[in-house]
Formats: sequence, C-alpha cells, structure tokens
Amino acid sequence: MQHQNPRGSGRPTPRRPLRLALAGATAGLAAFGAVAVSGTAGAASTLGASAAASGRYYGAAVAAYKLSDSVYSGILDREFTMVTPENEMKWDATEPSQGSFSYGSADQIVNHAVAAGQRIRGHALAWHSQQPGWAQNLSGSALRQAMVNHITNVAGHYRGKIYAWDVVNEAFADGSSGARRDSNLQRTGNDWIEVAFRTARAADPNAKLCYNDYNTDGVNAKSTAVYNMVVDFKARGVPIDCVGFQSHLNSASPLPGDYQANLQRFANLGVEVQITELDIAGSGTAQANDFAAVTRACLAVARCAGITVWGIRDTDSWRASSTPLLFDGNGNKKAAYTAVLDALNAAGPTTPPTTTPPTTTPPTTPPTTPPTTPPGGAGCSASVSLNQWNGGFVATVRVTAGSSALSGWAVSLALPSGASVVNTWNAQASGSSGTVRFSNVSYNGSVGAGGSTEFGFQGTGTGPSGSATCSAS
Ligand code: G3I
Repeated sequence: MQHQNPRGSGRPTPRRPLRLALAGATAGLAAFGAVAVSGTAGAASTLGASAAASGRYYGAAVAAYKLSDSVYSGILDREFTMVTPENEMKWDATEPSQGSFSYGSADQIVNHAVAAGQRIRGHALAWHSQQPGWAQNLSGSALRQAMVNHITNVAGHYRGKIYAWDVVNEAFADGSSGARRDSNLQRTGNDWIEVAFRTARAADPNAKLCYNDYNTDGVNAKSTAVYNMVVDFKARGVPIDCVGFQSHLNSASPLPGDYQANLQRFANLGVEVQITELDIAGSGTAQANDFAAVTRACLAVARCAGITVWGIRDTDSWRASSTPLLFDGNGNKKAAYTAVLDALNAAGPTTPPTTTPPTTTPPTTPPTTPPTTPPGGAGCSASVSLNQWNGGFVATVRVTAGSSALSGWAVSLALPSGASVVNTWNAQASGSSGTVRFSNVSYNGSVGAGGSTEFGFQGTGTGPSGSATCSAS
C-alpha cells in the first residue's frame, strides 16, 4: 500500500485551558466509568476518560519492549483504556516451534494492562502473515490441525482476560473480486475461518470474537465480501461478535466518505464494530480533521465500541515517516490529539454503545467424564471435557498414564447418532462417526508414568457423553 503526506501545515498543538493531568490509574478508572475532568465543565481530559463518558474505550497498540520507556508508558497509562499487543500475540511470537508456546512478551503487556486497569484486544490468532516458519511449511490437514491447536492454546492461555480477539485477520483479497485471499490457510478449505471462530469460542467463551481487515473502511467489494460472510455466519450460527476496521489511512487510501455508513451497515447485522488499527498519514489541520471525523463516525454508531490507534508516538508507528499518530516523537500532544479529545467530549454521555447479544448459544459448562482407569493402575485413562453449542462441539481429551510410562496410546469414544468428527488435533482419528478411535501422533505417544497429554477434536452434532476407553501400547 502506498502512503503519502503531508496534507496539513503542521501548526503547533493548541492547548486546552486548565487541563488537569491525572496520572497512573486514570485509565483504569476510566475503564470503569470514572472521568478525568478538565477545566471545561463536564469535559474529560484524557482520551480514555472522554471515550468512557459514552461507554466506549480508547486504545493503543503496544510493543512490550517499549514499556520500560517512561515517556511511552506514561502516555499509555494516562490516556488509554484498551491495549492491543502489536506483535506479541501473533503466531510466530507465541508458537515459535510447533507445540511449544512462548508467552513472555505478550504476558508482559497483559500484566501491565491489568495493573493499569486497561482491557486487552488479542491480536491475531489466524493470519496468513507472521506465521512461524514451521507453519508456513505445512499444508492441508496438518496445517488445519496446527491452526486449531494454536487457537486452542493461545486463546486458552488468555481465557477470561481478553475483551475481544482478532480471530481471523486479513482473509479477503484486495480489489474488486470479493474473493478470499490466497494463502496456505485458505488452501486448507474454505471453512477455515468458521473453524477458527468455533475453536476460539470453545477456548474462551467470554471473549468477543472479531474478524479484522484493512481496506474495508468504506463500502467496497472487499468490505461487502466481509459483510456477506458475517450475514452467512449469523444465519448458520457460526460465532462472530465483532468486525474490526483497521483504518490505516493515507492519501492512497483516504478516509472514505461512507465510513460511518459502512460501520452502520455492519452494526445493523448485530455485530459490534471496532476501529482497530487507526493511523492517518499527514500533519496539522488536515490530519486532525480526519481523526475527528473517524471519532465522530464511531460515536454516531451505537454499536461502535471503541477506537484503537496503531501506536502511541509517531516514532512508534510502523509508518513512522508518515507521522500518523496522536503524539509526536517527544510525546507531545498533536493537533490530531486535541481534535479527537474535543470530538469525544462533544459526544457527551448520550450515546452509549448497545451491548451485542451473543450470536450463538453459549457453550455449556463442560461435563467431564470420569477417568476409565483408577489412578495408580497400569495402562492409561482418558477424560473428556466438552464445549457444546447449538449444532457443534469441541472435545478436549486428557490421556493420563497409569503407574507405567506409555510409548503409545489410543482412546475410543462413542459419538451419538448424527454426530461426526470434522477436525482432530494432536491425535490421529480413525473413523468420523459411531465409535471413533483416536491414537497418538509421533510427538505425544510417550507419556511418563502418571503424566498426561491432551488431544482434541471438533465435531458437528452432539458431543460424546459416555466414558472414554484408553488403551496403552
Ligand atoms: O523484533 C525484530 C527485531 O529483533 C529485528 O531486529 C527487526 C529487523 O527487521 O525486526 C523486528 O521485528 C519486526 C517487528 O515488526 C517488530 O518491530 C518485524 O521484522 C516486522 O515485520 C514487524 O512488523 C509488524 C507488521 O505488522 C508485520 O506484518 C509491525 O510492527 C506491526 O505494526 C504490523 O501490524 C499490522 C497488523 O498486525 C495487522 N494489520 C496491519 C498492521 C500494519 O502492517
């Protein structure tokens, strides 16, 4: 994508009178509705507090390695109520080698956010880009299973801590085709997106699940393709709660005149809309005006839950030379900052976003079948936990070795009539309906005495309710 600027003159940042700088915990308080008040009656003095006045959040993308920069974290904690890890939750960062998960940098951001009272947008579970090398080299069912396992683990690790996940990122092609983007994930089958969403729902039932993309900011072929996918998902009960509009804007991709109308048409489908990666190349008044227009568009759409800018200072941006953010390289507020704050304050507390109802029946409390072999015996036992929704389920099966180590194992499970297995990870399935036998794969056959390993599968229909039979080999 080309990006050019400037479109403005770079006038000095105007200062609002009598602004009270509230430090540290302000963002956290704002997340729960407290408002930092400026000299103007009723107006708030930070982005987070002013967005909170209408029930919205104001967020930023954050890089873990910058948290030790006190200017950076000072602005972050003063102004923002939502945090998106810029790179730290991506596949290459969280699963650098297959089955081996690494959460250090992402946890740093999550811990910082929790301490500051900020909420967290998770980004991104399934994406054609920033895959680790091992995933780039997979295809077909091996890649599909790796994706399911990845989502299960990462969303499971952060279960209960994430406001919304970008479950699938940038899956549609640019241009007029309205087609899916070609990628290794797409080549696993057109249903990869819904499998990703169902898997994420099972792993963290309380996180909102978003589809996120760029160049979908106005009504165009690409956004219409996403729109049609949301219509289809809603009709078939595939869990989707929100759509993210990245909004990387510049002279080659300017703010569309129908930006608000586009947000509104998605909102009318019953999904929350979120502006997820906002940056606008430019400077001065022109840039400030566009930031204000984006802000007003979100405020005018009841289901627009909040705005996230893609970085804090211009120098933190992936497009630093375009100076596309709200703070300059020294951390000073730009004209764009004041324009956003004023627009947020102009809205007042009159337009709270509506709560999005769940799109599908929430998963039931996982019933767990009793182990089949008493602890301490030889052989192995298996227990099943189930996340069931209307028409489908994900089963997670724990295989536990008895008093002797296992060099291989197999678990048999009876599926109710009409149920069938569509995806299996960390095991090899034989059969897909009736009694299905799952055996270990190369990397999880060896289990030490008393140790355990997990595999999972996704199915349509009703999940198994009987006990699982485990045999050692
Ligand atoms: O961390 C390494 C560093 O060790 C190394 O020295 C350096 C050399 O290039 O690379 C560093 O990693 C870079 C990383 O950013 C951290 O700065 C990667 O090369 C670089 O590819 C990565 O770029 C990120 C980009 O996604 C990758 O696609 C940007 O920071 C990030 O802002 C950008 O974010 C994306 C969203 O996820 C999805 N939407 C578009 C958006 C902008 O491209």
